[in-house]
Amino acid sequence: MDAAIYPGSFDPITYGHLNIIERALSIFDRVVVLVAVNPQKSYLFSPEEKVEMIREATAGWPRVEVDGSEGLLVEYARRRQIHTAVRGLRAVTDFEGEFAMALTNRTLWPEMDTVFLMTRSDYMYLSSSVVRQVAQLGGEISSFVPPPVERRLRARFGHD
Ligand code: COA
Repeated sequence: MDAAIYPGSFDPITYGHLNIIERALSIFDRVVVLVAVNPQKSYLFSPEEKVEMIREATAGWPRVEVDGSEGLLVEYARRRQIHTAVRGLRAVTDFEGEFAMALTNRTLWPEMDTVFLMTRSDYMYLSSSVVRQVAQLGGEISSFVPPPVERRLRARFGHD
């Protein structure tokens, strides 16, 4: 299958997200990792910083493209003519929100579909906010995020 978009806040990208990208690469020829905006959240990193971190973390995967968008996911997808979004599912608690988002996107652009991939079980309870919190308090984050992200988090919280 050709291309898919993996949208998210990625504030910052974690090994859980990278696991989803790796799985998506075994299904799709190309994966566009899209740093998008959830207007209900406030972010630690700027979109440019997030794009840079994801590029560094996915440098070994030539079929991955990293981009950013401040608008609607469906507008980006329509412009690029990419009809599939990939989302990771962790616990059941993710389901309802994801279901609503997928259906809303399909209402906005009926040619859009969402494919859900299950995160590896060790990353089931991992989230960017947990990582941010542990980093802020000076805890060990090397099992949650790749080295370039770890460096930035340490620098951001003055633990380098
Ligand atoms: N491993 C680890 N953590 C994961 C994960 C995985 N596989 N999958 C999700 N998460 C975590 C994220 O780290 C994040 O944690 P946090 O809330 O503690 O920071 C949380 O799950 C959800 O994040 P994300 O998947 O990035 O969703 P989101 O709600 O932050 O953002 C967008 C969703 C950005 C994709 C969505 O708002 C969007 O499409 N925005 C564009 C505008 C638009 O089209 N809006 C209409 C949508 S219907």
